[in-house]
Amino acid sequence: MNAVKNPYIDQLGPYPLAKMARLLADIPQPEGLPLIRFSIGEPKHPLPGVISEALAAAATSVNTYPVMYASEALRKAIADWLEVRFSPAKINPLTEVLPVNGAREGLFSFVQAALDSTKADALAVCPNPGYAVYDGAVILSGMQPHYVVTGGDAGIAANYAAVPAEVWKRTQLLFICSPDNPRGDTLSLDDWRTVFQLSEEYGFIIVSDECYCEIYVNGDPPLGALQAAAILGRGFERLATFFSLSKRSNAPGLRSGFIAGDAALLARVEQFRSYSGGGMNQAVEAASIAAWKDEEHVHENRELYRRKFEQVIPVLQEVLPVRVPRAGFFLWVDVRSTHLSDERFAQELMAAENVQVLPGTYLTNAQGGMDPGEGHVRMALVADIDECMEGARRIARFCRNLSAKQAFA
Ligand SMILES: Cc1ncc(COP(=O)(O)O)c(C=O)c1O
Repeated sequence: MNAVKNPYIDQLGPYPLAKMARLLADIPQPEGLPLIRFSIGEPKHPLPGVISEALAAAATSVNTYPVMYASEALRKAIADWLEVRFSPAKINPLTEVLPVNGAREGLFSFVQAALDSTKADALAVCPNPGYAVYDGAVILSGMQPHYVVTGGDAGIAANYAAVPAEVWKRTQLLFICSPDNPRGDTLSLDDWRTVFQLSEEYGFIIVSDECYCEIYVNGDPPLGALQAAAILGRGFERLATFFSLSKRSNAPGLRSGFIAGDAALLARVEQFRSYSGGGMNQAVEAASIAAWKDEEHVHENRELYRRKFEQVIPVLQEVLPVRVPRAGFFLWVDVRSTHLSDERFAQELMAAENVQVLPGTYLTNAQGGMDPGEGHVRMALVADIDECMEGARRIARFCRNLSAKQAFA
């Protein structure tokens, strides 16, 4: 008798954070140094009062099932936010907005609902490095990811120009992350023009993941895909954008986000989620309405990141070539000067200083004998400023001690 097994599960690697936990599991923690996690991108700033108050006030509403289709009030609060943030884009709250239980669930449902996995050679183009849920969702739908190395000075247009037409012809979906996890890069209007032209030529869907769009430190909000489409006089056809309250409002446990864009695609995702049970908890819905309507806490949050970056990055720059990201809260740090691999760096740093960082190759895929994560680690500056400063000082001490040892050897 053959055991029944979903073959796609076997194609998934371990989730990056699970892999890191295994890598660091047996390392004894140095005495007297409390653990500092730069490894996990979980926002740690305080939960805004508008959310906790609205949650508490709506707590008793969970004695019924969540409505299958999110309320008009939530859709309207989101559409209003979008129209202000991404002017001149105009959004129909009923057809062009779909609330989801966090961007992650939205991305996963979208892939299952929007793509045609019956096509044997169908591809989805994923950024490399990139968020593991993109390729995970693609693999679990029975399709194949095709990785494109993103970032670097060449820019998006050059990155995509190197993709052969044969690949684009098989591509059903292109994932864009702007601001990008882990680098914090954003797409310019010219980049969007290139992406839209490619989508027009080859007919693929664009997923634009903009979960980090409210964490920018130079006062200049990143351009969004809906906004770029409106500026370029294009509609939202084949375009779906993803947003979240996890980072904008420090509420990762709330599980609240939305998809906005192509009404026909959203209708298909809505249909899929009516079977998978994606309705949003009523208290979460009430808290989400309050959060999307309030900008004050977002401003305060951004200010906390700005001050933190201003103080922490120079400490790291004394020992490592740290680039100030355009947006988001990650640093993608080249550690090749230490002569340690990404994994070894993470292990030795943990052993010496009890600071966790994520090895770069846990977010990347090797291509043609080259892996863009090699010699890199990701640091998430999510804790409060004192903890991040302490972590940065320990990393600086670790690198100095290491180069002293290496000079001696
Ligand atoms: C690029 C990217 N997209 C989406 C998400 C998921 O966000 P949410 O908490 O809304 O599910 C994350 C979370 O880490 C992320 O890094």
